[in-house]
Amino acid sequence: MKIRQIEPTDYAVLKDFLYHAIFVPTGAAPLPRDVIEKPEIAIYINGFNSSGKEAIKGDCGVVAVLDGKIVGVAWTRIIPAFGHIDDETPELAISVFPEYRKQGIGTDLLKKLFELLAEKGYKQTSLSVQKDNPALHLYERLGYKTVRENGEDFIMLRDLKQEVQAFGMALGMCFGLMFGAVIGTVTDDTSTWLPIGMCLGVAIGGCSRWWSMVGKRKENSMAK
Ligand SMILES: CC(C)(COP(=O)(O)OP(=O)(O)OC[C@H]1O[C@@H](n2cnc3c(N)ncnc32)[C@H](O)[C@@H]1OP(=O)(O)O)[C@@H](O)C(=O)NCCC(=O)NCCS
Repeated sequence: MKIRQIEPTDYAVLKDFLYHAIFVPTGAAPLPRDVIEKPEIAIYINGFNSSGKEAIKGDCGVVAVLDGKIVGVAWTRIIPAFGHIDDETPELAISVFPEYRKQGIGTDLLKKLFELLAEKGYKQTSLSVQKDNPALHLYERLGYKTVRENGEDFIMLRDLKQEVQAFGMALGMCFGLMFGAVIGTVTDDTSTWLPIGMCLGVAIGGCSRWWSMVGKRKENSMAK
């Protein structure tokens, strides 16, 4: 199975996955297909565009592909919907086709989506989940915390700091290695400059980690 970023040619499948993302308690009758036309549901996909010049802020997604077929999708939008927190926090929608559930696909989709959101500079992501939806266990396991209750729903937030730190570390290493390779080639002394570049990369990556830890400490002390 492959998890990859959603592409414009995949947008057509969002209707199907939106339908399957609506929680139906065990034993309840299936929902009519046109439920996804309701404005409060349709808003999760209408006009979705995550790439190119027309990319919409907060529109981001990943798909799980098995034997050439998309079997699960996790995507986010910043929309005035059930799990809206603020205009900087993309809200999650996720579903896996019923016959592919409980095999770890939902977990893999979410982990990849967190990385992607961190790369795009988002600090957190939200969701709304019905209190009796077993998906709640999945969200708690992956670090979501309940921040609000709204009738039958929990509104949850997932901090993306660990993914932001990992991204900063990777970026620092890339920069350091490139720096070492370029200077090493120019001076014809790669054996000296490559290790220097690597050290520089680790230092830059470490700084980004330290910086986000300082930020976290500040936030914690402000919250007290
Ligand atoms: C939620 C969903 C995307 C999870 O995908 P998945 O591929 O089954 O996820 P994984 O195999 O990685 O993990 C399974 C987790 O889903 C939870 N889960 C979700 N629905 C479940 C169900 N009907 N029965 C049992 N477990 C369920 C389990 O608690 C499990 O968590 P755990 O491993 O911590 O116990 C999938 O169940 C789904 O599409 N559900 C219907 C749509 C939905 O509820 N979307 C969320 C709306 S907020």
